[in-house]
Amino acid sequence: MIGDGPNPNNSNGQSRVAIRCWRGSSAQQEREGWANFGSCGCAVVSSKTLGFTSQACQAALVATEKGSDPFFGRLVKDEGAMKVSIVGVGHVGAAIAFAIVTKGLCQDLVLVNRTRRKAEGEAADLQHAAAFGSRAMRISAGEISETAGSDVVVLAMSAPRDRTAVAGAARKAQVHENCVLVRQLMPDLVQASPNAVFLVVTNPVDAMTYVAWKSSGLPSGRIIGSGTLIDSARFRAYLSEHMHVHPDDIRAYVLGEHGDTQFPALSVAATGGERLDRDPVIHRLFERTVASAHEVFAIKGYTNYAIGLASAMIIESILLDSHRTLPVSTLIQGFQGVEDVCLSIPVVIGRAGVVRALVPYFSASEIASFKACAASVKEVIDQC
Ligand SMILES: NC(=O)c1ccc[n+]([C@@H]2O[C@H](COP(=O)([O-])OP(=O)(O)OC[C@H]3O[C@@H](n4cnc5c(N)ncnc54)[C@H](O)[C@@H]3O)[C@@H](O)[C@H]2O)c1
Repeated sequence: MIGDGPNPNNSNGQSRVAIRCWRGSSAQQEREGWANFGSCGCAVVSSKTLGFTSQACQAALVATEKGSDPFFGRLVKDEGAMKVSIVGVGHVGAAIAFAIVTKGLCQDLVLVNRTRRKAEGEAADLQHAAAFGSRAMRISAGEISETAGSDVVVLAMSAPRDRTAVAGAARKAQVHENCVLVRQLMPDLVQASPNAVFLVVTNPVDAMTYVAWKSSGLPSGRIIGSGTLIDSARFRAYLSEHMHVHPDDIRAYVLGEHGDTQFPALSVAATGGERLDRDPVIHRLFERTVASAHEVFAIKGYTNYAIGLASAMIIESILLDSHRTLPVSTLIQGFQGVEDVCLSIPVVIGRAGVVRALVPYFSASEIASFKACAASVKEVIDQC
């Protein structure tokens, strides 16, 4: 017999759940244990502590799956049973799909493209690729109706682009047509997957995130734009090269607009607690960061691998409820006096989308840069 209940010893009653297990039918055999759901593998810890089989503890976890603890779901829900849909399977959508397959992030992956044959080809190729992965995945091409019940929906569709234009100009040239696409698609996508978190990658990404949110009727936290995560990764890569420190150990964000007005948040850039803003080279590395996307675009006509992995990182944080802090585009309501526009700031990402927006310290010049980003993105939104 398996039951559950709140832990009276836990003052907030939130992060702990009681697992009460009875072996056999004797009440004397009852034992009780408390599992801290802030740490992974609690079922195994509990089974060792209590001397129960791990299956019994697993069963207890499943029995209480519907509990109100926000941390509980991530341990009881089989992450492999998640469903992700990608709308727009061009260079970027395909790279995101490949990153998802490589990491085995979900069980069901649905690809939707304007030209169905293209989605079918990518789905078949990816299904073969999944055979080399560690988890069984079902990858299919479909229509919007087949995205139903998705946990995450990625918007990576785009109107045809001028691939000879520079990256910034190409991003802005797409504004109107991509706005129309986002407005057309969002209501149907939300209807099909009312509980999904929506990840917007389509450019210009900050304006498209805003339009997606407006057309969705959902709380703003459920719509995330890939924003400056990719710019921050490039910046950290250059800093890593310069400082001979692993990029993971460098906290350095590019924030604001994923576009020309973006800025490095040097006031909060550090490694091992050592601030980076005193290094005279850092500004040159930021200029290199901004130039690098243009360079790749000029040579290839598109960028796709970095955004593929950046998107997979966001999706992973949603599906695993990892609560990673990532710089992504989100609705800004009052931060630094900025209102009603989507821009990148560091946020905590979990199963519900943006769980919390962080409030980094900004210098006076960074506040001015952030406001310039807001003005630039609002101008783009006005063209929609
Ligand atoms: N946010 C970022 O950091 C970032 C990085 C790179 C590219 N992007 C953007 O991602 C988008 C896609 O880029 P790409 O290189 O893959 O372009 P692409 O032209 O290769 O692919 C776009 C795909 O969208 C499909 N599509 C168009 N309308 C559709 C609809 N109504 N339903 C379903 N599919 C539809 C097209 O058929 C095409 O396959 C662009 O807006 C690009 O600027 C964003």
